[in-house]
Amino acid sequence: MEKEKVFIFDTTLRDGEQAPGFSMTKEEKVRMALQLEKLGVDIIEAGFAAASIGDFEAINEVAKVVKNSTICSLARALENDIEKAGKALEPAERKRIHTFIATSPIHMKYKLKMSPDEVLERAVKAVKFARKFTDDVEFSAEDAFRSDRDFLFKIFEAVIDAGAKTINVPDTVGYAIPEEFGQLIEDIKNNVPNIDKAIISVHCHNDLGLAVANSLSAIKKGARQVHATVNGIGERAGNAAMEEVVMALKVRHDYFNEVYTTINTKEIYPSSRLLCQITGSFVQPNKAIVGDNAFAHEAGIHQHGVLAHRETYEIMRPEDIGLEIKSGSNLVLGKHSGRHAFKTKVEELGYNLSDEQIEKLFVKFKDLADKKKQVFNEDIEALVLDELSTNQKLAQLSYFHVLTGNTVIPTATVKLKVEEVETSPYTVLGGGPIDCTLKALGKALNIEDRFKLKEFNVRAITYGKDAIGEAKLTIDFEGYEVVGKGWSIDIVEASIKAFLNAYSKYVSLTKKNISESI
Ligand code: KIV
Ligand code: ZN
Repeated sequence: MEKEKVFIFDTTLRDGEQAPGFSMTKEEKVRMALQLEKLGVDIIEAGFAAASIGDFEAINEVAKVVKNSTICSLARALENDIEKAGKALEPAERKRIHTFIATSPIHMKYKLKMSPDEVLERAVKAVKFARKFTDDVEFSAEDAFRSDRDFLFKIFEAVIDAGAKTINVPDTVGYAIPEEFGQLIEDIKNNVPNIDKAIISVHCHNDLGLAVANSLSAIKKGARQVHATVNGIGERAGNAAMEEVVMALKVRHDYFNEVYTTINTKEIYPSSRLLCQITGSFVQPNKAIVGDNAFAHEAGIHQHGVLAHRETYEIMRPEDIGLEIKSGSNLVLGKHSGRHAFKTKVEELGYNLSDEQIEKLFVKFKDLADKKKQVFNEDIEALVLDELSTNQKLAQLSYFHVLTGNTVIPTATVKLKVEEVETSPYTVLGGGPIDCTLKALGKALNIEDRFKLKEFNVRAITYGKDAIGEAKLTIDFEGYEVVGKGWSIDIVEASIKAFLNAYSKYVSLTKKNISESI
């Protein structure tokens, strides 16, 4: 029997990005998309072009730079949405329009206020219209799992006749149980007469923790495309985690012997890490495949077993997902290291920087190596990330002073450079050192009463009392919740950098003009 390919449709930049706290700027989407291309995903859903100018521009930019994956935009079954998707995708070498409409009774009645006949007509029209922009059109029947089966078969048959090459079966609310979901795929195969002209795809949400199981069950019954996200991010409890689906197919190739993917699994861990760094949200330690503990053997009996024979407790090797165990704790460079060693290390960590950036960073590295006894991979990564986010900052820190103690009134002064223009120094008294620093930043940026600090975290990213501190701030700027990160040996400075990072993201995201949520 010849093996069939399961296409990986990555929706990290659309469904994933849609979740609160996961919004990404255009530059961040481009960085992530290039990593997804390296990972070898077949299709990158880069956004929803009609949702906002920001989304449109991000899709357009991703379409310009990514060469090996198909670039896709989501579009409601409306001409305006489809036209925007088509325009945003113009530069792509391979493009797909993914149009959708809800088909379940509850969605049709209460959300769309449309009859099934109207929905079917709209779906067919949308697919035909999308075909004017590309031959590669995917149709999703939103909330397919809760839809009437006969209606679902009918609409799939009609959209395939209209030119859809992929029909997607979403479990939009994460309600399905694996056996039932697999059965639905089998029923679609048996009841949609022209199904041989399309690929069956699935899109599973994780509300009951079953998104991956449902996707695998669907593959077993004939689905040949899976929608997934890195780290399983997505609306509510998220989508099927790409790394879990891919590794299940690989590790259990004996069971899934009829299929394969073309994912470069060694890029799984770097992709997961990059997403964490961009969004500021880390995966839980026990997360399958990419969690910190996924390859850690704590119990003595397990350690003994692994040392005697690795396969006693390990079903896959860390190297298979691109994880070099303990690489994070290696002492990598010292103050005598030269430019070349530094550049090589930056590249080893997965960053491709310009000579100018390397030069700037090398100076910072020397400065850090003078202050710190030991320089770890994480320190270098923090320098790189700081440089990358500094490039995107509208405002730079010129200087700050903070006075604090238990017998003085905490006082902070900050001076910024906003779009290359120096502000006056602003001083604020009262609260704690972070409180008055953030208030001073608010004054300097003229956004004093327009933001609220929702979450504040500081952690040491390496070991020892001279470790670099990473500050992660979640800030609500007039209803936009944005996460910013900053790094420094000084945690107040790290917090200022994180604030400025979040502020720049907010300014970039306010280009958004979402009129209707989906
Ligand atoms: O969950 C869902 O149904 C979706 C569709 C737009 C595919 O995200
Ligand atoms: Zn979804």
